[in-house]
Amino acid sequence: MEQRFPDADVDAVYRAIHQRRDIREFVPGALPDGLLQRLYAAAHAAPSVGYMQPWRLLHISDAALKGAMADIVEAERQRTAAALPSRAAEFLKLKVEGLRSCAEIVVVALMDGCDKHIFGKRTLPEMALASAACAIQNMWLAARAEGIGIGWVSFFEPADLAALLHMPEGAKPIAILCIGPVAEFPAQPLLETLGWGTRLTKEQFVFENTWPADALPTPTAY
Ligand SMILES: Cc1cc2nc3c(=O)[nH]c(=O)nc-3n(C[C@H](O)[C@H](O)[C@H](O)COP(=O)(O)O)c2cc1C
Repeated sequence: MEQRFPDADVDAVYRAIHQRRDIREFVPGALPDGLLQRLYAAAHAAPSVGYMQPWRLLHISDAALKGAMADIVEAERQRTAAALPSRAAEFLKLKVEGLRSCAEIVVVALMDGCDKHIFGKRTLPEMALASAACAIQNMWLAARAEGIGIGWVSFFEPADLAALLHMPEGAKPIAILCIGPVAEFPAQPLLETLGWGTRLTKEQFVFENTWPADALPTPTAY
């Protein structure tokens, strides 16, 4: 049986991959009916080490919680600016989240008890995080196909956010996802447009056999 998708479907998969953007600018409006549930299903279809499914998704609808989360993010944004070796003033002008303008907020956390799972991650405990990141990427791509933007916000102190959202000991938030309608999906990453980084060339990240002695270091993006 032919396993390849029809050409148009293959093109659509690559289009979603290449036209996905991290979004910080949202326009007013609600998500289409059922979209959030489809995003949850996309997350749930992600691969996970040892099939542990470590992702936990918290939909945040409470206005007071949203306000407290915005404060936690702002505090970390200021701490990041203070810690940057250069370009702090420029960084502070950068938009790094769309918490107040997005239609919906979903926090993604690693479940408690990840350490008990050793299948496929005994030597690499970060495989739980990698699995949860796969779930987020599934949501990101599905949302793009549906014309909806997602911004991954990681400017927060995990312990503060975990306490605010009553997470059990051992659970750890890894993303605040801002989800909503957008005016546009920029053609290139905002950080590239603003000169914070450039996309690597294939030679910089694809190696044949061993890691070349003359491999170029990735330039730091600040
Ligand atoms: C793990 C992770 C955390 C991120 N955290 C933030 C964030 O806190 N704020 C932000 O504005 N963008 C964040 N981003 C988005 C990146 O800046 C963005 O993916 C990158 O600049 C490439 O742009 P693109 O996603 O539009 O291709 C994050 C992305 C990832 C994968």
